[in-house]
Amino acid sequence: MPEGDWAPPPAGPGPGEVMEVPSVTEWAMEMLDVADLRPSPLPGVEMTFTLAGVPSADVSRALYAAVGAPVCWTDRFTWTHGDWRAWVERPELSTWIAMAEGTIAGFFELEAQPGGDTEIHLVGLTPAFVGRGYGGYLVEQCVRRAWQRGELWATGSGPATRVWLRTSTLDHPSAMANYRRRGFKVAAETTGPKRVPDPRLAPWPLPHDPRVARRPAEEEELIS
Ligand SMILES: CC(C)(COP(=O)(O)OP(=O)(O)OC[C@H]1O[C@@H](n2cnc3c(N)ncnc32)[C@H](O)[C@@H]1OP(=O)(O)O)[C@@H](O)C(=O)NCCC(=O)NCCS
Repeated sequence: MPEGDWAPPPAGPGPGEVMEVPSVTEWAMEMLDVADLRPSPLPGVEMTFTLAGVPSADVSRALYAAVGAPVCWTDRFTWTHGDWRAWVERPELSTWIAMAEGTIAGFFELEAQPGGDTEIHLVGLTPAFVGRGYGGYLVEQCVRRAWQRGELWATGSGPATRVWLRTSTLDHPSAMANYRRRGFKVAAETTGPKRVPDPRLAPWPLPHDPRVARRPAEEEELIS
């Protein structure tokens, strides 16, 4: 390009500023029968999936930030530590950690909803594992476990009759293709502007200032 035609790119929003993305398409996707799940090719090395036996607000929000910041997961930025605890410690919610090559490669979060619906709230790889052949297998294994609600997790909640999730054009470009490849179908679609907080900043203060000694009463509050 001739030098005279060069113009600086438009300035993006500054650090911490909310940006209105003019057009975001959001889809609800569903699978109505476990037989519709299409397996993915196996990754080159072993990948394991472990149910978090001790649901942890700290681990979940760290994974939410690590996996989700590059794809604008910001809906939970307003959550306090207490909100995270209240969310992850429910018996109907399960958090799964994926490991590969001795490293946390991703995670997913499933919820057994009333009437047999099972929602995949979150699923994704940590950035070092994106684009290396793990994504299809992660979603396959996530969906298998979603269908096993009532047995493997949320025991007693009854069987799943529908597995569903939400995704959008802000998610990774492979996300939608991956869900279709695994057998999901679009159930609903909406398009519109969306105000997105700055995903580079995860504003999650600790419940207490660790530099300040706590009184015994405060310790009790933490435990209760
Ligand atoms: C979404 C995510 C799991 C996909 O993983 P990935 O490593 O990027 O994708 P992969 O290369 O493993 O591809 C996954 C599948 O989609 C297919 N795919 C990807 N891009 C495709 C395209 N443009 N057209 C057709 N198929 C495509 C791949 O062939 C593969 O299918 P297969 O397993 O049957 O071979 C990953 O990008 C991620 O976690 N991103 C951050 C979080 C996120 O966006 N999560 C989704 C939120 S809803």
